[in-house]
This record gives sequence, structure tokens and C-alpha cells, in this order.
Amino acid sequence: MEKTKTASESLTIMTNIVLPNETNSLRNLFGGELLAKMDRCASISAARHCERRVVTASVNHVSFDKPIPEGGIVVLESKVSRAFSTSMEIYVDVWLDDPINQKKVHTNSGIYTFVAVDEFNRPIPIPKMTPETEEEIQRFEAALRRKELSLILSGRMKAADSVELRKLFGS
Ligand SMILES: CC(C)(COP(=O)(O)OP(=O)(O)OC[C@H]1O[C@@H](n2cnc3c(N)ncnc32)[C@H](O)[C@@H]1OP(=O)(O)O)[C@@H](O)C(=O)NCCC(=O)NCCS
Repeated sequence: MEKTKTASESLTIMTNIVLPNETNSLRNLFGGELLAKMDRCASISAARHCERRVVTASVNHVSFDKPIPEGGIVVLESKVSRAFSTSMEIYVDVWLDDPINQKKVHTNSGIYTFVAVDEFNRPIPIPKMTPETEEEIQRFEAALRRKELSLILSGRMKAADSVELRKLFGS
């Protein structure tokens, strides 16, 4: 029987404090530093899901909604949102944790595509993923649309061949 895993099996949480050498001129976490942390976190989720070596194929979307100040405690949480044949989408949520005032603020999120590869770096099939929570189901359902968009933007798919985007835009 084909192996299926849950999203929570790939859950990865990374907690760090923002140090001065990671900040921009406004003394907030530098965007590139955050991207590197998100990529690391997402790659661990991808490897946990497929139990293989993985590579980043695409960064589909990243938002920087709120700044993360020097000294801030930054928490990254990532999970597989959908598994396709050899690729999987990983959703990364970033939080600013304030233990003194007992507040946790969502600062941004990112959506990545990773591909499982064999010893020759060739794509290899991965287990399916079954979403469980309402949020996991919503992200799972939208993931095919995002995959098609990413493939179109990278020139790997013609817009006319997309199924989900044509449904969305009614053409
Ligand atoms: C990612 C990589 C393995 C894909 O190899 P490929 O021979 O082009 O393989 P395929 O065309 O069969 O694509 C493999 C899967 O990736 C998906 N994919 C590839 N590019 C994608 C993109 N830009 N967006 C979304 N999905 C993408 C394909 O749809 C396919 O998914 P599926 O099998 O689940 O349907 C290859 O391009 C690679 O090794 N890239 C470099 C990765 C790397 O070094 N990353 C670190 C960056 S520093």
C-alpha cells in the first residue's frame, strides 16, 4: 500500500534570538537572514516527510508583514502542506515571541517547493500527505494552484495547460 503521512509528522520548530550581526540599518532582522532560516526550517520538514535528501526547487511566496527587532525571539514553524509526485510544498510561519509580555505575533510566512532526490540528484517519488486540521486542509487545497503558478512563472508550464488557474480565472 502507498505510504501516507500527516502534516504534523513533518512539523519543524526553530527558535532563535536576533543578534546584532543579523540586522539591517533599522536594527531589525535582515530579510536575507530570515530567508536562510526559513529555507533551513522548510528543508528539515521536507526531509522528515520524504525521508530522503531534498533540494529547494522554488520559493513560491514570501511576505515580510512585520519587522523582527534586534533581541527579538523568532520562532519558525514549518510543515508539508501538500505532497505531489516528487515535489512537496512547505509552508513556513514565522512568529515573534515575547515571553515577558506573554505575546506571540505572526510576522510573516513563506511557501517553498522542495524535491526529493536520489543519490544521482534525480527526482524520486515521495509519500502522500493527508491534511488533518482545517488550516492544513485549506493549504492542501490551494497548493495545486500555487504549484501551477510557480511552474508557469518559471517557464515550465504554459498558462493554457493549467487546470486550477483556469478554473480560478474562469477561462
Ligand atoms: C529541482 C530539480 C531537482 C528538478 O529537477 P528536474 O529534472 O527539472 O525535475 P522535474 O521537471 O521532474 O521536476 C521535479 C518536480 O519538481 C517540480 N518543480 C520543478 N520546478 C518547480 C518550480 N519552479 N515550482 C514548482 N515545482 C517545481 C516539478 O513539477 C516536479 O514535481 P512533481 O514530480 O511532484 O510533479 C533540479 O532543477 C535541481 O536540482 N535544481 C537545483 C536545486 C538546488 O540546488 N537547490 C538549492 C538552491 S541553492
